Amino acid sequence: MNLRKSILDIQQLKSDGKKISMITAYDYTSSYLAEEAGVEIILVGDSMGQVVLGYDTTLPVSMEDIIRHTQMVIRGSESAHIVSDLPFMSYQVSVEQAVSNAGRLVKEGGCQSVKLEGGEKVCNQIRAIVDAGIPVMGHLGLVPQSVNQLGGYKVQSRSQDGVRRIFRDILELEKAGAYGVVLESVPREVAHVLSQKVKIPVIGIGAGPDCDGQVQVFHDLLGLYKDFNPKHSRIYANIGDDITNALSNYVSDVSSGDFPNDEESFHISATVISKVFG
Ligand code: KIV
Repeated sequence: MNLRKSILDIQQLKSDGKKISMITAYDYTSSYLAEEAGVEIILVGDSMGQVVLGYDTTLPVSMEDIIRHTQMVIRGSESAHIVSDLPFMSYQVSVEQAVSNAGRLVKEGGCQSVKLEGGEKVCNQIRAIVDAGIPVMGHLGLVPQSVNQLGGYKVQSRSQDGVRRIFRDILELEKAGAYGVVLESVPREVAHVLSQKVKIPVIGIGAGPDCDGQVQVFHDLLGLYKDFNPKHSRIYANIGDDITNALSNYVSDVSSGDFPNDEESFHISATVISKVFG
């Protein structure tokens, strides 16, 4: 039986005025830990490009990457809603391509919904995926798959034109049938108004506290990714340092001969040894 939260449960949280917490996870263990912490939504994000696969951007992430990691995440949790990212160039080419790849994420990966980036320009894709029975989450503001067009990872929607554009985009996404939208790196004031202007939940990342929910990258909250520390992330634990300390203690115990000790070893009787080796 499927115990996972549905998109209706997620939307109900907004109607009830309850904040939604969402976090990325990329494998069984991170999913298990997120589930234990009680997050409502787990995102199998293409941010895995940087924090798991070691690329500079999300652009090289493939459908196979997302499918494989979605399968791991599914096995680690049972009640969180799982949404997986459609990676770069898996939905931009055509509506048919978008529907077919969204179907693969659900069928082969096992997620309940998919997320894609962009506004008006991807509304045909959103409508078609939703018509195929697959819920879609939108993503506006700083859209990392368009980093080359944006000229870097910059805060968006700071000009009148920018604010007008994102307002139009979010209304179009809602009309196209998106069940929710991620708003990344936009001024708090913009996110506040947009969250009130649409019925669907607005999940912010670097968009201030007035959104209907928040999403963060697992590695950023836990101090696991040292290459970049976004201003909008709060570091709740320095697990990267803890891991490095633990591993360097291991290295020095191995080199001194202190590890493993007798209690950490297995034994057989001396008789067996003497019968074999004399
Ligand atoms: O891939 C990802 O982790 C994301 C979040 C930044 C929202 O899209």
